Formats: sequence, C-alpha cells, structure tokens
Amino acid sequence: MDSTQFKRHRRLRRSANLRSMVRETHLRAEDFIYPLFIVEGENRKNEVSSMPGVFQISLDLLKRELDEIVSLGIKSVILFGVPEEKDDCGSGAYHNHGIVQEATREVKKHHPDLLVVADTCLCEYTDHGHCGLVENGQVLNDASLALLVKTAISQAEAGADIIAPSNMMDGFVSAIRKGLDEAGFEDIPIMSYAVKYSSAFYGPFRDAANSTPQFGDRKTYQMDPANRMEALREAQSDIEEGADFLIVKPALSYLDIIRDVKNSFNVPMVAYNVSGEYSLIKAAALNGWVDEKAVAMEMLTSIKRAGADLIITYFAKDAAKWIKESN
Ligand code: PBG
Repeated sequence: MDSTQFKRHRRLRRSANLRSMVRETHLRAEDFIYPLFIVEGENRKNEVSSMPGVFQISLDLLKRELDEIVSLGIKSVILFGVPEEKDDCGSGAYHNHGIVQEATREVKKHHPDLLVVADTCLCEYTDHGHCGLVENGQVLNDASLALLVKTAISQAEAGADIIAPSNMMDGFVSAIRKGLDEAGFEDIPIMSYAVKYSSAFYGPFRDAANSTPQFGDRKTYQMDPANRMEALREAQSDIEEGADFLIVKPALSYLDIIRDVKNSFNVPMVAYNVSGEYSLIKAAALNGWVDEKAVAMEMLTSIKRAGADLIITYFAKDAAKWIKESN
C-alpha cells in the first residue's frame, strides 16, 4: 500500500506506553476541589439518599474526613452548611459562629494548608430557600448584596482562603471585593460562580443542602441553559468587577461554555461537576449498567480537556484514589 495516500494515525496508538506518551490531558489530585456538607449537631454522618457516597458530616467527625482528603493529595475543599434553623434573611450564613465559619476553623486547626473555599450564598439558610432576600415574591438584588458581603467577611474572618459567591445577584463580585478590602482582606481571592445556569442537574444537591426553593424557581437569577453569549457577558462583568477565578456550572452539558470562557479570559477556570452529574453515574453504576471508574474518569478528563483548570467534584476522593492506583 502506498502510504502517501492516507495517514496512519494508528501508529501512535500501538501500545500503552505510546498512548501515554502522546496523551494530551492529565488529571491530578490537585485539580480537584472536594465539596463537604457540614451539618449541625454531633456524631452525624448521614448519607444523602440521592447521592450515594456523599455524607452530611457534623463538626466532631470532620477531622477524620479531612485526614483522608489530605492523604489522597487533594489540596482544597468547598464548604456548604446545613444549619438547624433558617429564617427569612438567612442570618445563619453570616453568623460569626455559623456552621461554615466553625467548620472553617476546624479545617484550619487540623490542616492549616488545606485550602478552604467558602461557598457564599444564602439559600441554605433562608426559610424560603432562595439565594437572596425576598419581598412580595421577588428576589431583591441590591438588598441581598449587603448580606452576601457580611457572609464573605465572616467567612474570611474564620480563615477561609477563597470566597466563592454563588447567588447570581448582579454586582456581587464588586460588592464583595469592596467589602473584603475594607475589612482588611485584600489578599483573599474571589472565585466567582460567574456562569451559573438554572439547571435541573442541581436536584440532588438541594437534598444534600436542604436548599430547595419553597416557591417558584431560580430562573430570574440563574441563566437559561439555551444561552451562550450571555455566559460571556456574565464572565466579562465578573472579570471587570475583580474576580480572580471564574466558575462555569454545571460542567457536563456545558463543555462548549467552558471552552468559550477559557478562550476568552486568562484567569484560572473552574468547572463545577454538579450533583446530578454525579448521581446519574452512581445510579447507573449501582445497577451494573456502566463501569463507574471508567465513566467518571472519562467525564473528568473531558471537563479538563474542554478547558477547566480545576474541577469541583463529588468524585474527587475516588478519582484521587484511582489516579494513585494507576501510577
Ligand atoms: C447554592 C449552590 C447550589 C449548588 C452549589 N451552590 C444550588 C443551587 O443553585 O440551587 C449546586 C451544586 C450541585 O448541584 O452540586 N446556590
């Protein structure tokens, strides 16, 4: 056969070592940010029914979990609070001894180098389950910003390394940046959930965090899944307001958006591989329908290939173990 007539792509696929030599995308344990749900009370480790392998953990049991995370080479966690009491203004979010503030202190006590990303939002703490203040059935933008700023400052005071506002009010990055700076936290970066879609893939998270909206939905503040240019507008304004990282969320149905944002901005890009993406794989794996490890690693690799520098994922511990085993 005259090999000038076609290319022999299979030459580079002939052995495992050759394939490894030309592999373009590599996952590392330090790529992952592991979400933790911290519940009030003692001696609690409740598995989330819609997220097998994910637990709500009380403060007294946190150290063991952290030891495992650190031993796997994971460098950062993102904290979500599951408070016992909620009110209409989400005061548990910005209480100095709120559940996330206390969990942050606990992490810093045992593992000062483990990076704490604080999710800055009100929905886990409001009785109506919305991410901001509600008046006459409307989620208020500017009035909610003041509470978010208080939340971010209290998280930084507790020792959070990175503030990650997720509530999708307009102007949250500039408000939080100004608030942090005035409180003396000019060195604390903001990881903005800049591009957050109104997604059905968040369903299991709302079980884990008890944060389902009690009326309506989040469509007046989270984005329409059909929109692409709007993602670039959201990312652009967060960059102008001072975001140090950009998050795109969810990940798997939004790989095109991850790539667009990566190509357009030169800050570290984070993808949130959300609860529903985890649960779909878990459920199929528990039924024996897919190979969990192979499917999960393919998903994470594709998210990184699409342009994510970091991935927030419930598979972080499993993936870190799998990566260790393969070395
Ligand atoms: C809080 C928040 C949500 C998620 C992260 N932060 C829920 C929501 O917006 O309803 C979802 C994460 C996931 O599904 O894994 N606003």
